[in-house]
Amino acid sequence: VVLPLSLQRRVEGLLQEHLDRTLLSSGKLSESSDDGKPVNQTVDMKLDDPDSFLDGSVMEKVLQRRSLRMRNMQRAWLESPEGKKMLDLRKSLPAFKEKERLLQAIARNQVIVISGETGCGKTTQIPQYVLESEIESGRGAFCSIICTQPRRISAMSVAERVSSERGEPLGETVGYKVRLEGMKGKNTHLLFCTSGILLRRLLSDHKLEGITHVFVDEIHERGMNEDFLLIVLKDLLPRRQDLRLILMSATLNAELFSNYFGGAPTIHVPGFTYPVRAHFLEDVLEMTGYKLTSFNQIDDYGQDKMWKTHKQLVPRKRKNQITALVEDALNKSSYESYSPRVRDSLACWLPDCIGFNLIEAVLCHICRKERPGAVLVFMTGWEDISCLRDQLKAHPLLGDPNRVLLITCHGSMATSEQKLIFAKAALNVRKVVLATNMAEASITINDIVFVVDCGKAKETTYDALNNTPCLLPSWISQASARQRKGRAGRVQPGECYHLYPKCVYEAFAEFQLPELLRTPLNSLCLQIKSLQVGSIGDFLSAALQPPEPLAVQNAIDFLKMIGSLDEKENLTDLGKFLSMLPVDPKLGKMLVMGSIFRCFDPVLTIVSGLSVRDPFLLPQDKKDLAGTAKSRFSAKDYSDHMAVVRAYEGWKDAEREGSSYEYCWRNFLSAQTLQAIHSLRKQFSFILKDAGLLDDDVGTNNRLSHNQSLVRAIICSGLFPGIASVVHRETSMSFKTMDDGQVLLYANSVNARYQTITYPWLVFGEKVKVNAVFIRDSTGVSDSILMLFGGVLCPGVQAGHLKMLDGYIDFFMDPSLAECYMKIKQELDKLLQKK
Ligand code: CDP
Ligand code: MG
Repeated sequence: VVLPLSLQRRVEGLLQEHLDRTLLSSGKLSESSDDGKPVNQTVDMKLDDPDSFLDGSVMEKVLQRRSLRMRNMQRAWLESPEGKKMLDLRKSLPAFKEKERLLQAIARNQVIVISGETGCGKTTQIPQYVLESEIESGRGAFCSIICTQPRRISAMSVAERVSSERGEPLGETVGYKVRLEGMKGKNTHLLFCTSGILLRRLLSDHKLEGITHVFVDEIHERGMNEDFLLIVLKDLLPRRQDLRLILMSATLNAELFSNYFGGAPTIHVPGFTYPVRAHFLEDVLEMTGYKLTSFNQIDDYGQDKMWKTHKQLVPRKRKNQITALVEDALNKSSYESYSPRVRDSLACWLPDCIGFNLIEAVLCHICRKERPGAVLVFMTGWEDISCLRDQLKAHPLLGDPNRVLLITCHGSMATSEQKLIFAKAALNVRKVVLATNMAEASITINDIVFVVDCGKAKETTYDALNNTPCLLPSWISQASARQRKGRAGRVQPGECYHLYPKCVYEAFAEFQLPELLRTPLNSLCLQIKSLQVGSIGDFLSAALQPPEPLAVQNAIDFLKMIGSLDEKENLTDLGKFLSMLPVDPKLGKMLVMGSIFRCFDPVLTIVSGLSVRDPFLLPQDKKDLAGTAKSRFSAKDYSDHMAVVRAYEGWKDAEREGSSYEYCWRNFLSAQTLQAIHSLRKQFSFILKDAGLLDDDVGTNNRLSHNQSLVRAIICSGLFPGIASVVHRETSMSFKTMDDGQVLLYANSVNARYQTITYPWLVFGEKVKVNAVFIRDSTGVSDSILMLFGGVLCPGVQAGHLKMLDGYIDFFMDPSLAECYMKIKQELDKLLQKK
């Protein structure tokens, strides 16, 4: 189903325009001219271009006038009482002492690397110094500063902070842009955005026209996007001599980055933090009186989910042995002397056997015995956080809102929730924040005095050999542990409780492995291709630490398989389109297919759901009830994806009747997630509509939405090659994929509840290796669907292929699907003829 070339061009043109307008522009330079088209002033500013000279000089004047206005406003603020107060506060940050040195270094060097402890003022201050000094020198309107952040939430909160430090509303001089959301305007000259947004901009604007300064923040985290950005920027610098690149890192290993940029100067901002006392497990046990010696104790945790997961890894009969090891470790015998296998089981086991009850005991200890101050608990992920929250809420002391303010903090939080993290607790109420490792560096919560560190983070790793992403809670690095500890010393001396023995800490890796080396590279490779920088392999070999060739090859094979690269590794039309959509290529493809095949609405819900998270909640103590509630939405169609569609539609109905709260409660649904799905739906349909892929008439786009088989087929077209065969035995059922052999279904999949599944195949979006390989959401599909919609025979196929398929249609398809397939095909033929 190849889009006719003319339509494809239109799609590309429109999409480009739209992306320019909403996704890509920094906001600084785009203003509407009379004809409503965005004008890029930087183009006008190129005075050496004779064609634009006239306009350019006019524009120059406009910008000069604006610069003066900016300077006046800035001076007025700095002289106002609030401004002075704010400035005093800012002057107290360690970065301030280095201000002049930093500004000079930035002016004199194309690249510099800045290191400094978290909280010293790198993110909020240094880009602001540059902005202020440009404004003060009367060049304010000519500068355009971008500062990237690894996470949405930090981009948003930092932008808000900086604009309030300037006494301005957010979206004026300072703005932010994250995926599908942003606050910025034509006067924005300092933009905080995620690194993904800057990469996306680079796709269409290879030279970063008009940008004067790029700050890449938190490079020590070695996120995939940051590493990727560095390759692209390194390549760009010779062609943009005037562009300044500033790398910022929270740790001292600045040398690595400096060397990468040919010996760029490094500047360290000496920070001031109060001393933090570290308590390791042995002390913590003593302090809390918590005993970890008997089996009964461990059996308590048998109730706990983590333990169940690990039970398979550590059989019960080995419990003796393990407990001895734990005790041994506690007795400070050398952890490193264990064989890697033993160390592995111990690593998997230790914090989990200690589990939530110890955290609870530590929190009680702090609340009862310690001085005032907020507590930050580092956990592995959202699931753990919500389980622990539920457990703590039931506790007489910790669950009492008059004594404890319990706050959760994780990456996918809604904006309104994020503000809560910074909230001040009332007098005599202790603030306790349960957070993932995002609170490690990118978010600074000021009033923290106590840190509880479980020692683990959920880290995705990638098994290139089996082409499977793995998601395992694994030990953090020593650098992370130090970072976590440091969070307690922001306002006064603090305490850090590490829930693992000291000898285990000593065996931690020094730094974490870069993300580029531990994730599948599908999206990344697609983006590299659209940067038109030649071969993917060559490009990636220029990385700070290049990924394995096998991982690169897997990604290329995948992109070929879904039809976004052709045999010669060139982008197909579909590939071009997908590289521009802000979603995983698989999901982007599903959206395109849903629109072409006129069953857009359900597909839109499915894609939005898969990009947010599962709206079905799974409370630990009510798993069964929750599972039953979910299966009510599945109506024998063997599909988690369809269940989400039904749940969403039911929620919309309930909202209309004003009963959405009860609806969510009754069905174990998260209103917040449904709301997020709702807004994502709007955004995606806006993009596709703008791209010309949707008809103005909603009815037309959904003419075939009622056709379940078709929707199923579209799911398959997107999720292929995520496919498992259903193997029925006499009394049981098992599932197999080509690569992994046997796989298991997640417990809350509707398909896990059936005795038999009437489809021979399940398509799934994601598989994850925990102790075994698990597949998450799945949908049953027939042979014919797999034949027609799996793999390259979907979009990207030549029109000729469709003809070839005609013969098969009668043979394989169920009649309703065949009918609509033929209709679509006729329409496409018509379109092709018109062309
Ligand atoms: O980037 P770095 O970790 O060096 O520090 P920062 O994020 O610039 O934070 C500097 C200071 O600004 C912190 O100590 C906080 O006191 C304050 N800040 C804040 O109050 N609210 C924010 N959203 C961010 C920072
Ligand atoms: Mg920072």
